[in-house]
Amino acid sequence: MMDTMRTMRRRAIHDACSSLISPAPYKSTIAKSVPIDAGHASLLRAEKVTHAPISNVAISGVLWPEDAAKLYELAYFCRDDILELGTKFGLSTVILAEANRAGGYASTVYTVDIVPKYTAAAKRNAESAGIANVVAETSDAAAWLDNGISANRRFGLAFVDHAHDYENVKAIAERLDTLLLPGSYVIFHDFLDRRNDDPADTDYGVWQGAADGLADDFTFIGIYGCAGLFARS
Ligand SMILES: C[S@@+](CC[C@H](N)C(=O)[O-])C[C@H]1O[C@@H](n2cnc3c(N)ncnc32)[C@H](O)[C@@H]1O
Repeated sequence: MMDTMRTMRRRAIHDACSSLISPAPYKSTIAKSVPIDAGHASLLRAEKVTHAPISNVAISGVLWPEDAAKLYELAYFCRDDILELGTKFGLSTVILAEANRAGGYASTVYTVDIVPKYTAAAKRNAESAGIANVVAETSDAAAWLDNGISANRRFGLAFVDHAHDYENVKAIAERLDTLLLPGSYVIFHDFLDRRNDDPADTDYGVWQGAADGLADDFTFIGIYGCAGLFARS
C-alpha cells in the first residue's frame, strides 16, 4: 500500500517535470486573491528577482519571479517557524522573513549554510533590510537538522536549496518527517531542471531525492518557477 502511494507520487512528479519548461507559471496555493499585497506584486512583476520585496534592498543572487512569489505566499501565511537550507547571500531568506512579517506573524526564519562567509553576508543583508526575525547559522544541513530533531524543533515551512544531488536531498527529505508540522509545506528549488534527468550528472537528483525521501503523507502540489512544492497532511 505504502509502496503504491509512493510510486503514484513519483509518477505524478515525473509527469509534471516532463511536461513543464522552467520557469513554470505561478499559481496560488493558499492565497484567495493575487497579488497578496505590494511586496508580492513587486516579485510577480520583476523580470528576475534580485531585490527584497518590501525593503527593496539589493541582495546578490537571482530567483525566478514564480519561485520568489511562491516563497512569499507560503511565508506570508506561515504561523510557525520557517526553515531554509542553503542561505548564500540571503536573498530567499529575506523574502521569507519580509513576507512572514507582512502576513502579521513573528515567526523565526532559521537559515543554514555550510560556508561561514555566506552566513555572515546574509546576516548583514537581513540587517540592511531591517529584518530581525532571521537566525543564520553555519553548518552542514543534515547535521543541523539532526541537532534540531534532538532539540525538538518544529517548522511550518521548509525551503530546500543547498546541495542538489540525490543523496543530499533525500537525506534532508527523510528528516523532514520529524521536523515539519501537520499542515506544513516544503518546497525544493531546482526541482524542475533538466540536469535532474541526466543519469550522467551525479550533481543533480532533486526531484528524485524528494520523491524517495519524503514520507507518504507529503502530497505533491505542483511546480512554480523551478521549485517543487509538497504539503503535509
Ligand atoms: C543555490 S545557493 C542558495 C541560494 C539562496 N537560497 C538564495 O536563493 O539566495 C546554495 C547554498 O547552499 C550551500 N550548501 C551547499 N551544500 C551544503 C550543505 N551540505 N549544507 C548546508 N549548506 C550547503 C552553499 O554554500 C550555497 O551557499
